Parts: sequence; C-alpha cells; structure tokens
Amino acid sequence: MHKSSTLAVPEHSDVPRHLAIIMDGNGRWATQRFLPRTAGHVRGVQTVRRVVEACGRRGVGYLSLFAFSSENWRRPPEEVSRLMRLFVQTLEKEVGKLGDQGVRLRVVGDIAAFEPRLQELIRAAEERTAHNDALHLTVAANYGGRWDILQAMKRLLAERPELASDPQAIDEAALTPYLSMAFAPEPDLFIRTGGEQRISNFLVWQLAYTELYFTERYWPDFSAHDLDEAFEWYRTRERRFGRTSAQLKGSA
Ligand code: FPP
Repeated sequence: MHKSSTLAVPEHSDVPRHLAIIMDGNGRWATQRFLPRTAGHVRGVQTVRRVVEACGRRGVGYLSLFAFSSENWRRPPEEVSRLMRLFVQTLEKEVGKLGDQGVRLRVVGDIAAFEPRLQELIRAAEERTAHNDALHLTVAANYGGRWDILQAMKRLLAERPELASDPQAIDEAALTPYLSMAFAPEPDLFIRTGGEQRISNFLVWQLAYTELYFTERYWPDFSAHDLDEAFEWYRTRERRFGRTSAQLKGSA
C-alpha cells in the first residue's frame, strides 16, 4: 500500500508512474463518419491496445482506464449491451496476449451489476495475470469515485466497528487501504481525450494532486505520439504538493 500524496510527496520522474485516462470521444468519432456510435467503441479498443503497448515500452508502472462509469447505464440500452459484448470479446481475445506482455489486469468497480459470464471472465483474467508486474492495467467498469469512497468507508466501519463511536480516529491512513486502487500509487498524470475538461466522477479521491491534461483528440484517434506529447507536457509541470517553488528548488 502506498501512502497518499497528501501524506508523502512522491519522487518526480520523467514518465508518470501512474497514468489515469478518461477515453472520451468514441461516439463523436463515429458520428462524424456517419457510423453507429458503437463503431467508435470498437475503434476505441484498438486505441486501448496501442496505449497499453506504448505505456509498457515507456516504463509506465500503472495505467488506469475509465471504461464504463456508474452513470453510463443511462445510455440507450442497445449501446450499453454492445459495450458489454465488447468487454466480453476483448477479455476473451486479449487476456492471453496481456499475460505474455507481463501485464497484470484488474477491474475496479461494482462488477456485481454485470452479467454472470462477464463477471466470470473478469475473475479469470485477473487470476491469469496475477503473477505479472511489468504494467498494472486497471479497467474501471461500473465505477464511480463517490461510490469508491462510500464502499471504502462501509468496509472500514464493518471491519472496525469501534470507529463509529470515535469518528475523530478516522483519518486518511485508516480509509485509503479500503479504496479500490489501494494497490497503486496515486495517479501522477490524468489524460482526458475528446475535449471535455471534467473528472466525471473518475478517481475523485486519488486525483487530488494529479496533473490534469486535456486534449481535443477523440479517443479512437489518440496515438503513441499524442501520448508522448502529454508526457512532454507532464515533464514541464512543477509538482509542488502544497510547497513553494523556492522550497522545491532548495531541495533539488
Ligand atoms: C466514451 O466515449 C467512451 C466510453 C463510455 C466507453 C469506453 C470504452 C472503450 C474505449 C472500449 C472498451 C475498453 C476496454 C478496456 C475493453 P463516448 O461514447 O462518451 O463518446 P462521445 O462523448 O463522443 O459520445
């Protein structure tokens, strides 16, 4: 378990140790081409493959992708069911390759809401890649940042009921081990494609000190070159974590 950045300042490196991405713009990419929105999601899977490989080559340790939010159930039922089928097909097809590339796959989110076959595939994929640690790939599915904080609080109180009558004793260190991403350091860099500048209930707790990068590029068009541009921008950021610029220069 890594400490919160608010408690411990991580060392800065040229390449983010943990990259979190909101893959937005699939629908607009397809609509622009007079294709059904789901064609954009299919192309989006190709981008996932490209970005996973590029991150592996560049030495990113953790890559977290927002694939389906708790709010995405509000989409038209045909699109939701096409996305579910795409998840199933992608898991069936890719998990062997991921294993060979040293990728450890985890899915975070309330997966109990998914059909049993998808839940089973998720469990099998996690098990099959559990011994890998070249790249930790996390797919957030039926995930919401507020859900995550709430489920963490519920599990903390279930395991330590004495805290309910002593709330002052609840601190970050007590809560963070129960968050879905407790196995990873907090993201250093967040990328959202598709032009919107929002967090959209992704890792709301963990993004507190993350550098936020937004690009107009639609996710199906996002290339390894675009990733490098984001990394170049990241290198120029001065990550102060509450300290002053002079303090940072003094400790360099
Ligand atoms: C947002 O684009 C994208 C999604 C809600 C789905 C993302 C899913 C994938 C890229 C494919 C599956 C991924 C894995 C890891 C198997 P949007 O539909 O909101 O686009 P829009 O804003 O242009 O409408």
